[in-house]
Amino acid sequence: MKTLVIGTGGREHALARALSLDPGVTEVHAAPGNPGIAAVATLHPVDPLDGEAVADLAERLGAGLVVVGPEAPLVAGVADAVAARGIPVFGPSGEAAQLEGSKTFAKDVMAAAGVPTARAHTCTTPEEAAAALDEFGPTYVVKDDGLAAGKGVVVTDDRAEALAHAAACERVVIEEFLDGPEVSLFALCSWSEADGATVYPLQPAQDFKRIFDGDAGPNTGGMGAYTPLLWAPVDLVEEVLRDVLQPTVDEMARRGTPFTGLLYAGLALTSRGIRVIEFNARFGDPETQPLMALLDSPLSPLLLGAATGRLGEVEPPRWKPGAAVAVVMASKGYPESSSSGDVITGVEAADALPDVHVIHAGTALGGPAGDDLVTAGGRVLAVIATGDDIAAARAAAYDGVARIAFDGAQSRSDIALHSSASSA
Ligand code: AMP
Ligand code: GLY
Repeated sequence: MKTLVIGTGGREHALARALSLDPGVTEVHAAPGNPGIAAVATLHPVDPLDGEAVADLAERLGAGLVVVGPEAPLVAGVADAVAARGIPVFGPSGEAAQLEGSKTFAKDVMAAAGVPTARAHTCTTPEEAAAALDEFGPTYVVKDDGLAAGKGVVVTDDRAEALAHAAACERVVIEEFLDGPEVSLFALCSWSEADGATVYPLQPAQDFKRIFDGDAGPNTGGMGAYTPLLWAPVDLVEEVLRDVLQPTVDEMARRGTPFTGLLYAGLALTSRGIRVIEFNARFGDPETQPLMALLDSPLSPLLLGAATGRLGEVEPPRWKPGAAVAVVMASKGYPESSSSGDVITGVEAADALPDVHVIHAGTALGGPAGDDLVTAGGRVLAVIATGDDIAAARAAAYDGVARIAFDGAQSRSDIALHSSASSA
């Protein structure tokens, strides 16, 4: 089968790589891709936000499966445009992607489905924001209501900072603070008239959201991740499936907008039980990188099963033993800004290490002859390593990071260090 992956980031590289290793996949294509994805797929210069252009490309290639990676094309309805041509597409419709596209919508679905989440108010004026902040008290949590690539959330004890963030956004969701460690639990979801919703959870992972060691500094898109979570309660997946995932997809189907694709539950394991922090409508980045490194099942039958409403006919995902760790290297200025054009060295040396591979996110070809690998975004790349346990995987990943250099490179030194870390 020919496959087409839409997007340019680390998640798309990890998915394209997993598809390239799948014996059932004959060709992997990507649009627009990046230099790392070019090593495992044929790239096409198509705008990922242009649904008709993506559908045209899929048709021209004879793709049997299109995977839409990022949230922006999903919210823009790119999966709908591909599905309209009768081509199987992994990723929710634009309407179903509102689970990620609007925090207010997600809260509404959770309320209707009885899914536990933080109490929240949607605010559009400074007066409403101030009242909501005072109702919940510190620590304050203020979220931009729209898509913000993981960076629209301010968590602070400083009331003035919370108010300033609220004032800078058109519409914010202000909510109660959730304590406890965070878990990212992903689930493959399919839906059919005959069988209703089928949900296959993946192995839980943990992401490190803050820019600096010790969870200091502002939120980022994610500075590292690892799986499995040996410290998590043994019945975590079962409980989340029962109390969060299944009720959510059932509610989406009840509304006439069934959710298919990847449902990402960002969870807090609080002293009062599990709470949903957020839903995303796509694979998480960088959690997907270590998850793909440990996935033992071929990826394409799972994605195709979800895309065609037949996930229940596919064997649930199997996992390799051991652990996987991803450490992100970001460019100068991230997350407030980013730096482009800095020459990156050492990627091949890192890639050549046993059990290590490099996943590209914001890279490009540049330099005087146009053949240097250079930075082209905030999160530049991630070094992924597997090992018998977290310590071995972590050591190998940092060995890889030590081989790679670019001006202003930033990475955390404590990814998966305390694998029972209190927060991520
Ligand atoms: P979100 O974009 O909603 O995932 O938020 C990004 C990050 O902000 C989360 O991963 C948490 O670390 C933090 N966060 C969001 N909501 C809350 C909350 N209610 N309580 C505590 N931390 C939160
Ligand atoms: N790892 C956070 C995200 O993908 O949103």
